Amino acid sequence: MNDKSKIIAGLIIFVAIVAFPFLFNFGKAKPAPEPELTPKAKEAKQCVRDKAYMTTEHMQLLDQWRDNVVREGQRVYVNPEGKAFNMSLSNTCLDCHSNKAEFCDRCHTYASVDPYCWDCHIDNPKEKK
Ligand code: HEC
Ligand code: HEC
Ligand code: HEC
Repeated sequence: MNDKSKIIAGLIIFVAIVAFPFLFNFGKAKPAPEPELTPKAKEAKQCVRDKAYMTTEHMQLLDQWRDNVVREGQRVYVNPEGKAFNMSLSNTCLDCHSNKAEFCDRCHTYASVDPYCWDCHIDNPKEKK
């Protein structure tokens, strides 16, 4: 073996060792569940804000909504595109996302979060109280 082939052989072994854990686990990690949209949400196309914002910031948005309603008595939210929404967890969010189990819950279970909101807020506004 000359030096060049030693280097190449060494490189191949190095790459194989480095790649092993990735190849070994390939396909084993559970992928994040895809949140399902209801026909109503699909028809609306848009959430309150753009998707990236909603995915990462929906908790802050809900906090802001709660503070506006409870502390300021302000119930109308206008998004940057100028569209108005009634600031309500049950009547607005769950109007489009009425499939809470397949939408909110599935993602929260995956992320191991369990919002306590439903102790008080109804999770099925369609059936009313
Ligand atoms: C007018 C119907 C409508 C309302 C009201 C609505 N959504 Fe959405 N929501 C959608 C649609 C449509 C999408 C998908 C957007 C996309 O794919 O671009 C979405 C996406 C999302 C996502 C991102 C999902 C993902 O795949 O990452 C979250 C989180 C979310 N909504 C939470 C909420 C919350 C919380 C509220 C209330 C503050 C709310 N939505 C109100 C229609 C709605
Ligand atoms: C794409 C995944 C995804 C979807 C869909 C989703 N959530 Fe979440 N939600 C999260 C994650 C992740 C967190 C935790 C974020 C953190 O801890 O910073 C969270 C946190 C929250 C919190 C704050 C909980 C706490 O204890 O601080 C609320 C409230 C909430 N989500 C409401 C909703 C509602 C209502 C829906 C359905 C309309 C929804 N989420 C849909 C991923 C999602
Ligand atoms: C101890 C009971 C309780 C819990 C738990 C609770 N809320 Fe509320 N929430 C209320 C009450 C009472 C109001 C005032 C209702 C009104 O004036 O319409 C309210 C109002 C709101 C509003 C505005 C009005 C509406 O109809 O939605 C939002 C948004 C909200 N809460 C979000 C949340 C979120 C998000 C969580 C969980 C992180 C949560 N709340 C947990 C009792 C609760």
